Amino acid sequence: MGIFEVVHDRKNTRSVKWDMLETVFQSGDVLPMWVADMDFQAPEAVNQALIERVKHGIYGYTVLDIEVKASIVQWISRRHQWQIEADWLSFSPGVVTTLHMAIQALTEPGDSILLQTPVYTPFYDVIEAHNRTLVRSPLVYNGDYYTIDFHDLEEKFKQGVKAFILCNPHNPVGRVWRKEELEKIAQLCLEYDVLILSDEIHCDLTFPDYQYIPFASLSEEIADRTITCMAPSKTFNLAGLQASYVVTSNQALRKKLDEQFSSQGFHGLNMMGSTALEAAYRHGEEWLDELRIILAEHKKYVIDQLETNTDLRVVRSEGTYLFWIDCSALELDHKQLNKFFIQEARVGLNSGFQYGEEGAQFMRMNIACPRTTLEEGVSRIIHALKS
Ligand SMILES: Cc1ncc(COP(=O)(O)O)c(C=O)c1O
Repeated sequence: MGIFEVVHDRKNTRSVKWDMLETVFQSGDVLPMWVADMDFQAPEAVNQALIERVKHGIYGYTVLDIEVKASIVQWISRRHQWQIEADWLSFSPGVVTTLHMAIQALTEPGDSILLQTPVYTPFYDVIEAHNRTLVRSPLVYNGDYYTIDFHDLEEKFKQGVKAFILCNPHNPVGRVWRKEELEKIAQLCLEYDVLILSDEIHCDLTFPDYQYIPFASLSEEIADRTITCMAPSKTFNLAGLQASYVVTSNQALRKKLDEQFSSQGFHGLNMMGSTALEAAYRHGEEWLDELRIILAEHKKYVIDQLETNTDLRVVRSEGTYLFWIDCSALELDHKQLNKFFIQEARVGLNSGFQYGEEGAQFMRMNIACPRTTLEEGVSRIIHALKS
């Protein structure tokens, strides 16, 4: 049996996805296909590196040495053809933490921060928590796929936007922004003097035929105004180890960000996080390539099944393992929709409404689970809709 087919019991492991069902769905009887982690074990090399570390048994203060940094530099160069320098790296327990730090370090209270909605919920929280002003530039949905309304984006920039939190690839709509799109964004950011906080946490998880391009790799000029947030956590299922990093070539921006981290008492990563990060980047490539094939097969299965047997539409996804399902044919409001999936279908999905009002007719489904789990979830949905 392949490693991605094994069903692991995650209950009673303090798993947010599996052990918080009552809290989140008010039901213990749902199949969890929500929060963005995978029901797969990390690559064996990661587990072995952690076991070796534990065998040593001493967990003192740990330095992030050049070997860890080199593993990141080489990974990004090998996988994404972006040549970065070790000195450009800052470390953070998570991408969301970084966004909180960056907003505080690089913008002022009241500043306008732009989001392309619907989008990952914590982006809104970051803006609100630090009393910045949310500016929305809704993505355009054509019934199949999302694109950027560049006219709207320019209009919003014209009104004075300090920073833009870009999501590339985009959660939840699954777009892997193309070069022409990124170039147009870049040109507008230069013209209207906008800083870019680019969340690229899903960058390794693209479907075949879609090429992720790091925003900051477009040009030196654009790198100069970009903070790029990355991590091995989505790619290798390491979210609980809390290890991420930031790439900033602009020394002045990096200094401000680093000062913000240290003024809040953050220094480096925990030892287990850095051990896993390095092992994943040095030895996880084969595992990742296999995972991407499995996810592509899952994608095909979900689209085939849901679109043949129900009136749901699965938005054409180019990356991430999070599927954005158009439920508008059911003609339910977002509360009824959520209730239907919990009580009738008995699957725990994320309500699309939490990503912005544009998501009210959508649900987000996590397909990163063994095929049998996926089939069970999909068949519960089909069965509920048919009855
Ligand atoms: C776009 C995006 N950014 C950030 C995160 C979370 O990152 P972290 O756990 O490193 O804060 C997620 C998790 O789902 C995500 O989808």
